[in-house]
Amino acid sequence: MNKLKGKTVVITGASSGIGRSTVFDFVKQQAKSIVLVSRNKERLSEVSSEIRGKCESMVVACDVSNKTEVLKMAKDVLSVHDVDILVNNAGIGILGDVANQSIGDMESVTKTNYFGMIYCTKAFLDPMLRKKNGHIVNVASLAASFGIPGLAAYCGSKFAMLGFSESLRHELHGTGVHVTVVSPIGVKTNFFYHPSFGNKFKSKERFYLDPSSVSKEIIRACTSNRLEIVVPFYMRGGVWLKHTIPYLVNPIVGTSFRKILDIKN
Ligand SMILES: NC(=O)c1ccc[n+]([C@@H]2O[C@H](COP(=O)([O-])OP(=O)(O)OC[C@H]3O[C@@H](n4cnc5c(N)ncnc54)[C@H](OP(=O)(O)O)[C@@H]3O)[C@@H](O)[C@H]2O)c1
Repeated sequence: MNKLKGKTVVITGASSGIGRSTVFDFVKQQAKSIVLVSRNKERLSEVSSEIRGKCESMVVACDVSNKTEVLKMAKDVLSVHDVDILVNNAGIGILGDVANQSIGDMESVTKTNYFGMIYCTKAFLDPMLRKKNGHIVNVASLAASFGIPGLAAYCGSKFAMLGFSESLRHELHGTGVHVTVVSPIGVKTNFFYHPSFGNKFKSKERFYLDPSSVSKEIIRACTSNRLEIVVPFYMRGGVWLKHTIPYLVNPIVGTSFRKILDIKN
């Protein structure tokens, strides 16, 4: 039975990469309506036109790092839709070591990835609680479990997202509202096009996942009782090793990523 048939979904970061692929997967699942959220209205409209005739859609331009914009977006959405699923996927990464990265860049990563998720969760949680039904899917990263040199603010935002989701999951026990985190390894998207990355991660691109491998797991997450789905599944073993023998795993992570970043010591 298709459990997502007839559902209404809000997807942040729907204009590109994983979010865009998630839109198409919800269409395949016969979702009733999809609300596409990101800053770039033109790109959202392109995605919306690709699903025209297959699924209802609503395009809302909104910067999720801006609380006022999120509250307005949620008000507009809730005035026409009864939301069943929220996918907090919008996110950015900016490469740079802590000593040299600007506070502004760190704030923008944290506000988008972590506070953006909090603002959207707060905006849609109440109506879900009232109808005793809903699922919040937070797209984190394997960087929610490994501190990677050059991505401290990004890793911090994703560790925080996982911690927030775990706490929220306990609070929501028995309410009919669920939270699941999807944590992928590297994915071939525009994520690495931020100028700070240069071509530092280019050599690894052949190992990256297609966005569709992640969006399939986001679909699975919507009916899952699990806290976290790691993509690909076998990387769960890596997370387990990191927590079990961190004194062996952490130096390997440090050495290999310092190499990518050309940090000599
Ligand atoms: N690619 C990877 O290797 C990878 C690995 C693990 C986890 N992830 C996570 O996956 C999620 C999606 O990233 P992606 O890989 O699909 O990258 P992407 O192709 O760059 O997509 C990012 C999406 O987020 C939106 N976005 C960025 N800042 C926003 C803001 N302030 N307000 C609203 N929307 C915003 C972008 O749309 P606009 O520019 O139109 O706003 C875009 O739709 C992120 O949370 C990322 O951390 C990515």
